Amino acid sequence: ARLVVLVSGSGTNLQALLDEIDSVGAERYGARVVAVGADRAGVAGLERAERAGLPTFTCQVKDHPTRADWDRALAEATAAHRPDLVVSAGFMKIVGPEFLARFGGRLVNTHPALLPSFPGAHGVRDALAYGVKVTGCTVHFVDDGVDTGPIIAQGVVEVREEDDESALHERIKEVERRLLVDVVGRLARDGYRIEGRKVRVPA
Ligand code: GRF
Repeated sequence: ARLVVLVSGSGTNLQALLDEIDSVGAERYGARVVAVGADRAGVAGLERAERAGLPTFTCQVKDHPTRADWDRALAEATAAHRPDLVVSAGFMKIVGPEFLARFGGRLVNTHPALLPSFPGAHGVRDALAYGVKVTGCTVHFVDDGVDTGPIIAQGVVEVREEDDESALHERIKEVERRLLVDVVGRLARDGYRIEGRKVRVPA
């Protein structure tokens, strides 16, 4: 399968995918990253892609007259790489109707909380502030809501007394990277079906 990965920041989830594919080989893993896109220039995620010799693209909201134009441009830049699966790995923009029309059903996102708890851009901070004893991460298909699509897999992370947001987020990301690598590989190799809110991936 051809993967396009969308990033906004450090790209450690992208790096985990690249490292896994390097170590097991694209054939056995069932997928390879063909391009990396970002919503802004100069992020570490793009540098990781360039180091891996991958094509990159940036699609900045401020460069487009309307949000819909940005959404269309992002869809076109992504489509140019003929992805079978699009992976939003720390991509911090909400894609719009055009992007969903083209990639809905094969667009997965990773979120650093146990959805439906703590959706949105500050899931780690919100969970910590709430005082939960466990939190974690969720890999899900993207639908037209914010972090509301059908859940594929989740991982649990204990919250520690001494945690601050960054310590907890780092611990979540250790689980998240492994979850994402596992899920993307299974979706690519084994296929899947989305039935309402349920995702069926052959065992
Ligand atoms: C990840 O925890 C992702 O779930 C959240 O932001 C983080 C991105 O990390 N949206 P990275 O850019 O993959 O290192």
